[in-house]
Amino acid sequence: VGSILREGEGQLGLHADANWIPAPFPEHNTVLTFCMPCEGMTDEGGATRVVHGSQSHRRHPMPEELEDIGHVPIEVEKGSVAVWDQAVWHSGGIRSIPGTRTVLHATYQRLYTQPIDDYTYLLNDEEYVKSASKELLGLIGAELFFGTANENRGVDLVKFMKSTMLSKR
Ligand SMILES: [Fe+2]
Repeated sequence: VGSILREGEGQLGLHADANWIPAPFPEHNTVLTFCMPCEGMTDEGGATRVVHGSQSHRRHPMPEELEDIGHVPIEVEKGSVAVWDQAVWHSGGIRSIPGTRTVLHATYQRLYTQPIDDYTYLLNDEEYVKSASKELLGLIGAELFFGTANENRGVDLVKFMKSTMLSKR
């Protein structure tokens, strides 16, 4: 997905991306967020802000931790990528200069979690599906092993479980 930030906009509240994952978060990554700022990201341009060391808490910030806890902007050059995992506390900056901050976002998750972005509506478009590559269809959810994108939900899940668990015996 993409986002555009204009002068005076911003200030997404402090949070960790491990939504719906109870604390303590696992030590391994469950979610990775990649942000590709098309014009680069600067503090005055509304760069995402992070709290150094916050990942070691392995939980979401508490209400009393939401104010002024030393956010620092992720400043990156045009063409660079900003990356953080599910446990890093971060917030959106405020753009104080003219122009726009355009960012392309990609979120990667463990196979056992439900994707955050839902593109499965595209699977209802026969022309789209016919022209899409197998890889693209996989990315938009055609092969989710929980079968959430199709009517064979239970059947697909049973097939998946048989193929992964029984074949190892
Ligand atoms: Fe986030």
